[in-house]
Amino acid sequence: MTFRRQTLRIAVAAVAAVAGMLVAAQLLPTAHAGGQIPAEFAGVTAPVPVPVDTSAQDSQSLAPYVPTPQVVVDRMLQLAEVGPDDVVYDLGSGDGRIPISAARDYGARGVGVDIDPERVAEANANARREGVSDRVSFILGDALATDVSDATVVTLYLLSSSNLKLRPILTNQLAAGARIVSHAFSMGDWAADSVETFNDSRGNPRTLYLWRFDGQPRP
Ligand SMILES: C[S@@+](CC[C@H](N)C(=O)[O-])C[C@H]1O[C@@H](n2cnc3c(N)ncnc32)[C@H](O)[C@@H]1O
Repeated sequence: MTFRRQTLRIAVAAVAAVAGMLVAAQLLPTAHAGGQIPAEFAGVTAPVPVPVDTSAQDSQSLAPYVPTPQVVVDRMLQLAEVGPDDVVYDLGSGDGRIPISAARDYGARGVGVDIDPERVAEANANARREGVSDRVSFILGDALATDVSDATVVTLYLLSSSNLKLRPILTNQLAAGARIVSHAFSMGDWAADSVETFNDSRGNPRTLYLWRFDGQPRP
């Protein structure tokens, strides 16, 4: 092998390693089992396709961990008109920021559900730090197998395909009048009652969907 060819190989390997780190840091959108994750999910404005091996991904995974920026959390809770009488469930709750904000800033009760034990431990620590452990709880489990019947508000930052899996569960369990707010992803042919689009503090476009549940089960 010539010196030039070896240098080229090293350069290509270095570029691949940097791309891998950016994906790991969620600065670039990644692929998932159902195809490319929309750029909006990774908080960037232009899609940069980076194929990754998803064969080891847990089949129960509804979405990778990407936190919602706090400014967007606030808009979600305001859109749902969360107040002290509400019980806010975040399905796929990550570090717990949505239930914690609902309790700390709106006086609601919060419940988070996450399949990743590390996220649940982090969320519990965050709730303690914010002084809301008495009004917030986190369940380690699968959102698809969680009883959400006492929720008055459900928040989601999953994928469209995951929202569709949750749709029959939500519409069978929630009481009429419950609100569902989804960050970035719609729910198939169930038209949202309102759709809000705005730019976050970094100038990235964000879309929020709000459904006011009418009591009709939907498949
Ligand atoms: C995009 S993050 C959203 C985190 C948080 N809701 C937020 O908006 O900041 C999706 C979260 O869903 C969790 N998750 C993925 N599949 C799940 C499942 N089947 N049940 C519960 N949580 C799940 C992931 O571990 C991750 O923390």
